[in-house]
Amino acid sequence: MNNDELIKQAIEARERAYVPYSHFKVGAALLSESGKVYQGANMECSSFGMTVCAERVALLKALYEGERKFSKIAIVGGKEELEYTSPCGACRQFLADFGTELEVILAYRENGELKEKTFRLKELLPETFNL
Ligand code: THU
Repeated sequence: MNNDELIKQAIEARERAYVPYSHFKVGAALLSESGKVYQGANMECSSFGMTVCAERVALLKALYEGERKFSKIAIVGGKEELEYTSPCGACRQFLADFGTELEVILAYRENGELKEKTFRLKELLPETFNL
């Protein structure tokens, strides 16, 4: 699956965000090596620390289905318009437990145009914790 298709799935996932507190909607689409896409959106809680990020919703859905190997994740976020949204540290570590070669695609809008920046997870989380 190409990056644009995965970004489209993240944009679609973002619409399912439950964000009554921040109003900042994040969508993620995680592609497994088996070729399936797992979508996630952020889910907020009145006790803010309980909030679950979009990336972890997608990852947990995939793990529950038995997936353990992933090739790419697309992430989009913003209140109204998409703005550059980079994954938080907790999500980076959770994803890193399943491989730091993961391609991380961050999509946003600049002058109304869809742009993307891609990284390997190891660039975003050097010196990853390993147990
Ligand atoms: N959020 C994500 O969904 N992913 C991230 O990587 C960073 C933050 C969410 C959590 C919360 O619902 C909102 O963005 C504002 O912090």
